[in-house]
Amino acid sequence: MKMIVPERQWVLATGGAGYIGSHVVVELVAAGFGVVILDNFENASPDVLTRLARITGFDIPVVRGDVRDKSKVAETLMRYGIDIVIHLAGKKSVGESVSGPLDYYNANVGGGIAVLEAMRETGVGKLVFSSSATVYKAGGAGTLDENAPVGPSNPYGRTKAMLEEIITDTVASRGLTRAISLRYFNPAGAHHSGLIGENPTAKPNNLFPFIAQTAAGLHPKVLIFGDDYPTPDGTGVRDYIHVVDLARGHVAAVEHLVANAATADHLRVNLGTGAGYSVRAAVAAFSGACGFDVPFEVVARRPGDIAICVADPGRAKQLLGWTAKLSFEQMCADQWAFHRTCEDHNTDRLVVSG
Ligand code: UD1
Repeated sequence: MKMIVPERQWVLATGGAGYIGSHVVVELVAAGFGVVILDNFENASPDVLTRLARITGFDIPVVRGDVRDKSKVAETLMRYGIDIVIHLAGKKSVGESVSGPLDYYNANVGGGIAVLEAMRETGVGKLVFSSSATVYKAGGAGTLDENAPVGPSNPYGRTKAMLEEIITDTVASRGLTRAISLRYFNPAGAHHSGLIGENPTAKPNNLFPFIAQTAAGLHPKVLIFGDDYPTPDGTGVRDYIHVVDLARGHVAAVEHLVANAATADHLRVNLGTGAGYSVRAAVAAFSGACGFDVPFEVVARRPGDIAICVADPGRAKQLLGWTAKLSFEQMCADQWAFHRTCEDHNTDRLVVSG
């Protein structure tokens, strides 16, 4: 396997072995960047490294470590001559964050601070941060642009909103030169190779992995949480974004940081498609992708859920020149292909980190 000799800058991807991180690594390598992964593998499988090598044709350097270990982060930044950090490492379950908030503040806020300190100490000035649409206050009408009020309703969302604020203050103090926080809507799907994707070992909370596992026979049916929302078919509407499109949004953010190195600021940018799909539409599209009807039943609403959450993706287009390209149907097909691969090789299920 070849070692990476990048045509362009070196990027450190914290959490680069996770669901989103692994797709970001693939797209960065394809765009000519050198990539180093820092991951503690708490919520990711080491198998992903072999799979990344198969997809990219390169051995991606990996440092096993926790972002809260500031010296390890600083040592990695120095050792590889890193120019840009994409900080994806963190915990991502809303429910877990409610029952164990301190773990979430420790990992997500503490981890983020350690990364910022290591960057400041080593003079690495450019950061892309993995934020979330969860930072927005629930209940707004229409699509959400980046000026929509922030007001997360759970500890997980608060860790993301807090780190965004900390990044703003750090840029203002010249502890960082430039940062972009990417506010993800609902990532789903998998790489078209079927080699990387999301297949949680625990019962998934998110809709797409749950539909895929139901189609694979792991659950008797999809439970649709409520059909009395004020939406066209009564079920919740979300902006599902193909994880490969999402990964390409990170590359566009990195390109933007490289091209505009001189200006100090912190941009917040939505990564979504601008189109909303209901839970019923998701089950129907997935059934189309796998060629049989995935069973479902409508049950009561899930506490804390909102009716609609859809991005206004205008800023990403205007500033980063990025738009989502892959269809909802493609997302379902790729997620299903990945799940079938997992069933074939049941030893190497991939689990995710943000
Ligand atoms: C959830 C998180 C959000 C996180 C996002 C990541 C909550 C409250 N929010 O968002 O912070 O950024 O995942 O992707 O957990 N649904 C069902 N049946 C299921 C699962 C979901 O009907 O088994 C419905 C939900 O009611 C919702 C839609 O499907 O309408 C999407 O749910 P989900 O995938 O969990 O995402 P969000 O709740 O939007």
